[in-house]
Amino acid sequence: MMRVITFGTFDVFHVGHVNILERARLHGDHLIVGVSSDELNMSKKNRYPIYSQQDRMHIIRSLRCVDEVFVEESLELKAEYIKYYNADILVMGDDWQGKFDHLKDICQVIYLPRTPSVSTTEIIEIVKSDHNP
Ligand code: CTP
Repeated sequence: MMRVITFGTFDVFHVGHVNILERARLHGDHLIVGVSSDELNMSKKNRYPIYSQQDRMHIIRSLRCVDEVFVEESLELKAEYIKYYNADILVMGDDWQGKFDHLKDICQVIYLPRTPSVSTTEIIEIVKSDHNP
């Protein structure tokens, strides 16, 4: 059995998120998702996510392609999470291309292309700008 792990904020859930999770799951038989905590987002991006970590985890856990969910408390603990969850493969979007190559000692590392033209940041900007169809 191949266990796949991936990480992300998954705030204001969108189709790019579904695409990467469905494709990550196709690389194995069990998908584990580390959802970054509210505090982690505050410390890295200087703002809290729109959806709480509890709600973001609830959404991710409800997906058919997801088997297990946990809170990612620190970006520096990837190796520890990979070992703790016995993951064989780390999947990340290619916005992280090359950034996790040092983890190739402990698991396979795969970068998948992002879905074009959609991001949480862009959705928030569009909503803020009071766009008209
Ligand atoms: N992702 C993707 N395609 C997109 C947007 C995100 O494949 N269009 C992937 C990212 O590569 C990552 C995961 O979804 O592996 C979670 O990304 P996250 O940063 O939570 O979403 P973004 O929409 O990129 O959020 P932001 O705009 O705040 O950076």
